[in-house]
Amino acid sequence: MTDILFTPLRLNERLTLNNRILMAPLTRCMAGEGLVPTQQMADYYGRRADAGLIISEATIIRPDAQGYPNTPGIFTQAQIAGWRLVTDAVHEKGGKIFAQLWHTGRVAHPHFWGGTDALAPSAVGIKGTVPRMRELSYVVPREATVADIAQLVEDYAKAAENAIEAGFDGVEIHGANGYLIDEFLHHDTNRREDEFGGNPQNMIRFPLQVVDSIIARIGANHTALRISPAAYFNIQPDARDRQVFDLLLAELDKRELAYLHGGIFDDSVEYDYLDGKVSEYLRRHTRHTLVGVGGYSADSAAEAIADDRFELIAIGRPFIANHDYVARVREGKETIAYSDEQLPILY
Ligand code: FNR
Repeated sequence: MTDILFTPLRLNERLTLNNRILMAPLTRCMAGEGLVPTQQMADYYGRRADAGLIISEATIIRPDAQGYPNTPGIFTQAQIAGWRLVTDAVHEKGGKIFAQLWHTGRVAHPHFWGGTDALAPSAVGIKGTVPRMRELSYVVPREATVADIAQLVEDYAKAAENAIEAGFDGVEIHGANGYLIDEFLHHDTNRREDEFGGNPQNMIRFPLQVVDSIIARIGANHTALRISPAAYFNIQPDARDRQVFDLLLAELDKRELAYLHGGIFDDSVEYDYLDGKVSEYLRRHTRHTLVGVGGYSADSAAEAIADDRFELIAIGRPFIANHDYVARVREGKETIAYSDEQLPILY
């Protein structure tokens, strides 16, 4: 029944995955002092090395990208050295791992870097407080200047280079879930009237600049992208966003990418303005290798891959609950159910 999950997949001439099961990026907030990855994190990822590909927890590209406590970074030498422990642990067991590159945009909080401004496409704030730090209310972000945007593009590219130096097999650009790149792609959060907003062509400019600058530095074989065409987290939906994503996907089709990954928690939800589920919309609009995600079991994922709805499945919460998820599926064993109480324990 799940045999198809254990067939290899060639992504490109540099990368072939042993199986179709990806470990989804999962923020665990357990980096050490200086946002440096720890030996405990290396052990945690090493235990999951039999995934076809691990995508690291979202990793901040510079200090003002931070929106949650103890999220790892990839902009200092100490962080690069910490990630080397992780990539070595995964490679020693025959696995592969991409770094997920992150800037939280308006979800960032200046508390973390001792600054004043959080940067976003427009000065539109979110309500509420930082998870795990209820005393921190979100601030209204400052609209990024054109010079700020150029610097952000450069900092994404540098972070990608750092990831390769740290031994990663590639990077996944975090363009999903209401963070900086996603904020440029939705009308709710992008109210700009310059060349970075106001119409689909302009709204996709910054995301594409990030993609192109990273491809230029580390190569398309090592560059992947995660996007959320459905606004479902920290962003209000707007039917006009559909044209933005249609254009973005058409532009991405002109480029090479290692894969394209949907960003969604529950892929059974149908969105009117996408004419269906996120994976269905992406399948219709991209030629790239597609990663499905969001509430799948091994059985439902195998069925979707057999039906050609996507090529790879990313598994999130079950991988938190089961370090040996892949072995359990292969051997037809029960998996342990996920619960939020497992989050503070990195096993
Ligand atoms: C996530 N998710 C997530 N997504 C992402 O792109 N970067 C991240 O760092 C995180 N962090 C994260 C932490 C935790 C605790 C959860 C539960 C989720 C989303 C995740 O990658 C995935 O899309 C969802 O969990 C849906 O897949 P499952 O869990 O239904 O298999």
